[in-house]
Amino acid sequence: MKFKTIFEPFKIKSVEPIKLTSEEERNRLLEEADYNPFQLLSKNVLIDLLTDSGTSAMSSKQWSAIMDGDEAYAGSKSWIKMEKRIKDLTGFEYILPTHQGRAGERILYGYLGGKGKIFISNTHFDTTRANIEYSGAAAIDIPIAESNEPMLSHPFKGNMDTEKLKNLLKEYGSENIGGVILTVTNNSGGGQPVSMKNANEVSNLCRKFNVKFFLDCCRIAENSYFIRSREPGYNRISYKNIAKEMFALSDGSIMSAKKDGLVNMGGFLALKDKELYEACTNLLIITEGFVTYGGLTGRDMEAIAIGLKEVFDKDYLKYRIRSTEYLGEMLYKMGVPLIWPIGGHAVYIDAKSFYPHIPVEQYPGQALVCELYLKGGIRSVEIGSVMFGKYDKKGRLIPAPNELVRLAIPRRVYTQSHIEYVIEVFKMLIENKDSVKGMVITKEPEFLRHFTAKFKYAE
Ligand code: F0G
Repeated sequence: MKFKTIFEPFKIKSVEPIKLTSEEERNRLLEEADYNPFQLLSKNVLIDLLTDSGTSAMSSKQWSAIMDGDEAYAGSKSWIKMEKRIKDLTGFEYILPTHQGRAGERILYGYLGGKGKIFISNTHFDTTRANIEYSGAAAIDIPIAESNEPMLSHPFKGNMDTEKLKNLLKEYGSENIGGVILTVTNNSGGGQPVSMKNANEVSNLCRKFNVKFFLDCCRIAENSYFIRSREPGYNRISYKNIAKEMFALSDGSIMSAKKDGLVNMGGFLALKDKELYEACTNLLIITEGFVTYGGLTGRDMEAIAIGLKEVFDKDYLKYRIRSTEYLGEMLYKMGVPLIWPIGGHAVYIDAKSFYPHIPVEQYPGQALVCELYLKGGIRSVEIGSVMFGKYDKKGRLIPAPNELVRLAIPRRVYTQSHIEYVIEVFKMLIENKDSVKGMVITKEPEFLRHFTAKFKYAE
């Protein structure tokens, strides 16, 4: 199209009202939530950018297919549809349904892991790492060096460092390695893409050293968009075929369909190897359910079968990536420090640079998350020392490498004016920047403290 405006390639058929609140009300609500937005009720949030996971709006095709869900315990026709779609997309023979991504992780990495084993990834997502470590194995992240520099531009900042990979494969040997995992796009590294060239190199090394190579493919359609627009030789290949090419390099894949599956719940495990599939099948039946539903309802499976097709639509993907990028670009122009270039599903703000007067011990990311809610009713998530910080023996904070705040964009949910509103809120935040106070933790649990920790403003 020759027009500059890229509009949402859909019409709205059903709406969910947003209840407007005043700053005064939000002041009270935030205090009642102990300054932790995880404790806020969603009805009190104007724009919810907490996650892009399970928050997609489904299409009228998905909703109508839901009526057709076959809820049979065994051999559901909805499963047959879902399985066929996944086989066609991934090229793998053996597919297992799971209720979400981490269920697949627990089954596969639990089976391949255990004490003494290691897994290697560009960056393990939190639940991936948790499942690996829970099995007794270790998880090693080896993203390329560029990924550690927030503002440094690189077309494929999600790539894995293949020199480091080669050394680790040599050092540990195939018997000690549970698997190598490419997370596409790299969520924890800023939603950054992985190139086909990098995936090829990783695949070749894994073959050479006889180690299994898996894709964490929950945002593979978004990754395919970046390959087509940035990697030489791909600008005429369809997004779906780019994804297929990447699947073909691996031995299997785990997907949380709550992202690029365009559904609110679901996932799958897709494998090349029959023996591995059989081992995983046993584990699936023990905790998830029978092989033809694995924790999903028939209606969920109908919606996944359609979502996995819709997500590769070229107009959808263009709108999706461009709208996230637009938000990032506007904030960047206003001087907001952020991870650059903008990733597929989210904008990551560098809160430490945004609030240089707040020391990391007073959690600049949490201060920004609270400001976003107070001033604009926007919910976001801190990805910094609240989430990943640890204490040393003397009780001093060992901060996380970065103090980020993620604005994750739900798929097909918000319109351009919602995004313009977020930009306007940031304008206000910039004006009040210097007067914002840091936060201190008043109560925290031992594990995963970011969900339930309580805060107050620092003196
Ligand atoms: N892998 C990646 C890369 C993810 O981003 C997630 C979830 C999972 C695995 C786990 O999938 O939630 O279906 O069990 N990410 C969400 C987020 C929670 O907010 O980024 P799940």
